[in-house]
Amino acid sequence: MEVRYENITKQFGETPVLENLNLTIHDGEFLVLLGPSGCGKSTALRMLAGLEDPTSGEIYIGNQPVTDMEPKERDISMVFQSYALYPHMSVFENITYPLKIRKVSKAERKKQADRVAEILEIGNLLKRKPKELSGGQRQRVALGRSLIREPNVFLMDEPLSNLDAKLRVHMRGEIKRLHTELGITSVYVTHDQTEAMTMADRIAIMEGGHLQQLAAPNEIYNKPTNKYVGGFIGSPAMNFVKGRYKGKEDRLDFDVFDFPIDHEWREIFERELSGDDLYLGVRPEDVQVSTTPQPGAVKGEVYVVEPLGKEMITIVRVGDHTVMACIEPDVDIEMNQEVWLQFKNHKLHMFDGKTEAKVV
Ligand SMILES: Nc1ncnc2c1ncn2[C@@H]1O[C@H](COP(=O)(O)OP(=O)(O)OP(=O)(O)O)[C@@H](O)[C@H]1O
Ligand SMILES: [Mg+2]
Repeated sequence: MEVRYENITKQFGETPVLENLNLTIHDGEFLVLLGPSGCGKSTALRMLAGLEDPTSGEIYIGNQPVTDMEPKERDISMVFQSYALYPHMSVFENITYPLKIRKVSKAERKKQADRVAEILEIGNLLKRKPKELSGGQRQRVALGRSLIREPNVFLMDEPLSNLDAKLRVHMRGEIKRLHTELGITSVYVTHDQTEAMTMADRIAIMEGGHLQQLAAPNEIYNKPTNKYVGGFIGSPAMNFVKGRYKGKEDRLDFDVFDFPIDHEWREIFERELSGDDLYLGVRPEDVQVSTTPQPGAVKGEVYVVEPLGKEMITIVRVGDHTVMACIEPDVDIEMNQEVWLQFKNHKLHMFDGKTEAKVV
């Protein structure tokens, strides 16, 4: 079912946590709420579940306003970071608890438990107690409990953050497959950009109680709407250099970086820029590093080299700036060496120096 936040504002006492959130989640979509700690992700999710009341605004599930509805009337299931399993109950009892409180017959409970156990591959664990399970197994039991009935909306709040790195990677694939099979509208909260990029149909990036961008992962990556999003998504992070647009000279003056610009860019700058100040943004993989002088390249000095096996992160000092580049792992390059940097022109991002909104 479609989910809609309309003009949702939330304050705790005097402190605003969410300001005028407008967000539509399509029927069957996997939407990821992504943002740093404290930006209001869990609050947004908890309001949808009915565990918090908005200060103002309305939330809809389907076309039904739910703000005045009790959590249990909303037909939502939620998985938390701490799995919150009942310790005295077996895995079977934990998973089927939502059916038991709905007075579903034992035979039907057994049937549904078998179905869910098969999807999650926990059939051999049904008799165990939570303390006899690994973290990943507990997590799957918690997922099983929310999957056992098909809710209108499936909510997950950092469900993988207690797992080790390998299991996290495994489980994110499992959750994605499960979502594709079941097709239930899902809202998934995380501060992990890799989870967001790999799992989401669309990502809603939040910061300080505001929605910054709502788009598919590739669009967020390739067309960040502002400097914040550009810097938040991508690892290592986008490089930024502050500079000025010198209209009369058809140039961009980025301190040590000096660009002539063509007519097309000038038109855009004249139209879009609120002042002369600009941020140039370039991702590390779009910086080319040469060990010999190149025409039009920016000269720098290697500060440090970090081999990662499949690639090498090279940090280069250019004047007072530091530029990160991801380069081929087998380039022969060492600390303090002189290098020449070139930026892939069609991959450059420009942000307004004052508003930080994307200019091009
Ligand atoms: N019950 C509450 N009373 C007062 N302030 C609260 C309450 N719950 C949350 N907050 C505050 O609201 C802000 C947003 O909290 P929220 O839990 O939504 O953040 P989050 O994005 O989920 O962060 P994290 O990634 O750390 O879980 C924080 O500043 C938090 O301190
Ligand atoms: Mg949270």
